[in-house]
Amino acid sequence: MPSTRSIEVLATAADLFHAAAEEFVRAARTAIGAQGRFTAALSGGSTPKRLYSLLASNYADFVWNRVFLFFGDERHVPPTDADSNYRMVNESLLTKIAIPAENVFRVPAENPDAAAAAEDYESRLRRFFELRSGDPSGDRPGEFPRFDLILLGMGPDGHTASLFPDSPALDEQSRLVVANWVAKFNTHRITFSFPVLNRAAEVMFLASGADKAEMLHQVLETKPTPPLPSQRVQPSDGKLLWVLDEAAAAKLTR
Ligand code: 6PG
Repeated sequence: MPSTRSIEVLATAADLFHAAAEEFVRAARTAIGAQGRFTAALSGGSTPKRLYSLLASNYADFVWNRVFLFFGDERHVPPTDADSNYRMVNESLLTKIAIPAENVFRVPAENPDAAAAAEDYESRLRRFFELRSGDPSGDRPGEFPRFDLILLGMGPDGHTASLFPDSPALDEQSRLVVANWVAKFNTHRITFSFPVLNRAAEVMFLASGADKAEMLHQVLETKPTPPLPSQRVQPSDGKLLWVLDEAAAAKLTR
């Protein structure tokens, strides 16, 4: 599948989340039709919460038992913490749909050792996708998962997942999941690496609101050196879709 990038601009935030929900379900139906299951990695932050609520309210009777949900990144906090991406998804979606608990793979971020939590999550991914690990010498790199869909957001500094500018995980090429030290937050985040993001069949970015407009212009229309983290999401064999509302797209030259 040739890599494509498309930008969809909706009039309002409500329209954006409806379009995103339809795209999620379209991708799910296609994957389930083709391979009997749909694998998706969810994003955190505030933007996708309305998408998750809409999926719960408008698609409650979907075949959730064929859907397998992962997290593209997580804050280094327990699942009960107000900052937990898992908690946000659990409250807005998981508790409202009939998805089997064994179909939801959360990051074990309650582990005080962030690196161990990342390793644990990586081994869960390798087991689920039946992936060969790389050999210790590094001569033979391990295999990477191919998610049917990865949801992403973009931060005001151009970060995505928890791949922040000037952070160590930007250069990770063999691990699937790493603990990334984020100096400005003085904490670790647990995040997918770029190789995982760029092997997805589809990546869908959601960005809503005027506070995203300047950075969206930079990410989608400029070529800084080094590139911004959100610019480094280029699926090698998949679809890249940006779903925006008018306010977020206000500074794009169209
Ligand atoms: C997180 C996210 C992060 C998020 C952006 C945008 O854990 O915070 O995964 O990458 O998508 O920071 O956040 P907002 O949607 O809150 O603007």
